[in-house]
Amino acid sequence: MTVEVRPLGVKCNIQCQYCYQNPQRDAGAVLHRYDLDMIKKAIAGLGVPFSVFGGEPLLMPVDDLEALWSWGFDRFGRNSLQTNGTLITNRHLDLFKRYNVRVGISIDGPGAFNDIRWAGTERLTRAATAKTEAAIGRLCDSGLTPGLIVTLHRNNATADKMDALLDWLKKLALLGIRSVRLHLLEVEDSEIRDRYRLTDTENTAALLFLASHVNDIRPIRLSMFEDIKRLLQGNDQKASCVWKGCDPYTTRAVQGIDGNGQRSNCGRTNKDGIDFVKGDQAGYERYLALYHTPRAFGGCSGCRFFAMCKGQCPGTAIDGDWRNRTEYCDVWTSIFEHFEAELQRANRWVLSRSEQRLKVEATLVDAWARGRNPSLTEATREVTASQ
Ligand SMILES: C[S@@+](CC[C@H](N)C(=O)[O-])C[C@H]1O[C@@H](n2cnc3c(N)ncnc32)[C@H](O)[C@@H]1O
Ligand code: SF4
Ligand code: SF4
Repeated sequence: MTVEVRPLGVKCNIQCQYCYQNPQRDAGAVLHRYDLDMIKKAIAGLGVPFSVFGGEPLLMPVDDLEALWSWGFDRFGRNSLQTNGTLITNRHLDLFKRYNVRVGISIDGPGAFNDIRWAGTERLTRAATAKTEAAIGRLCDSGLTPGLIVTLHRNNATADKMDALLDWLKKLALLGIRSVRLHLLEVEDSEIRDRYRLTDTENTAALLFLASHVNDIRPIRLSMFEDIKRLLQGNDQKASCVWKGCDPYTTRAVQGIDGNGQRSNCGRTNKDGIDFVKGDQAGYERYLALYHTPRAFGGCSGCRFFAMCKGQCPGTAIDGDWRNRTEYCDVWTSIFEHFEAELQRANRWVLSRSEQRLKVEATLVDAWARGRNPSLTEATREVTASQ
């Protein structure tokens, strides 16, 4: 479980054109105040380490950040931060060291590749990107190597840009970066779709290109591919939430805590600017419906990757309607097929081609109907043990 603390809600110092939080900003749902005691009380209630998130968390006064992190360090021995990296100062670096803060930075590439993470004008945007790039260097030099999130879109991952994207990753590898999380673009409106979304063919080509170069960018690991290979072998223990059957009204994997300590869901389920009240009990209707609904009607019926993919993140569902499967189904199908073939060539067992697949699916479906969501690992073990 990730606990995302958003003291200033979705307030941000830049204006990423694609940000999935923009509908909330457009609806005027931006917080300006927070209460640290209420936030701490809510974190204590969950009892697990937290990540300071946003919007942009480094808009918080640095003394308040110190108060939160020193409390987090005393309680959990570590802290986390997810930032656009444009506001990092020497004082922040000191706090990162003192309070064991793991830093995650979002950047979509060098220079112009990062332009969609817009700062108002082209000059300001390039200056902001230069600050983020410098911050990555300083963090690496200080032994605080950050993890990166890179979102793929028309500005950094069309065929003509892939060699340059790869060169950038190679440079990051030389700096010592070890973890890069790739995101496909979550599309919130038709304008963003037309301007920035890659076609399914382009997305697939970009991912396969990167998959073919994983050995050239070591020690960087692309967690997306590692997840998919393990899923195909019936193991989701380390997999990201997007593969685990997420209820959009409770989002077990992401627990949000907003400025007054109120609990919220993962912001990716938030559509049309509406922050739905958090449910107190998870339901798995989406997964039951997807299993039984033909693909022509937005479902996943008959897909041999269903136990692994489950229609993927509800935040990327077709038409922004969580009842549908992800709009990136064709991309994920191609990527699953690619690694399925690779594993089979290496004589490895794959769930998608095994006799156990239907039984694993039945185990999951039966559990969802009873309001439970066992892991793929548990379901696979249960089926294997019963044979
Ligand atoms: C909403 S930001 C908040 C934290 C911080 N401001 C940052 O930039 O890391 C969290 C992450 O979501 C990613 N993100 C935002 N909108 C997205 C979208 N539409 N599709 C995919 N990823 C998105 C950002 O790039 C960032 O990595
Ligand atoms: S909505 Fe998507 S990103 Fe958010 S917790 Fe659920 S699966 Fe994960
Ligand atoms: S690959 Fe497509 S059809 Fe198969 S489970 Fe995923 S979203 Fe559904």
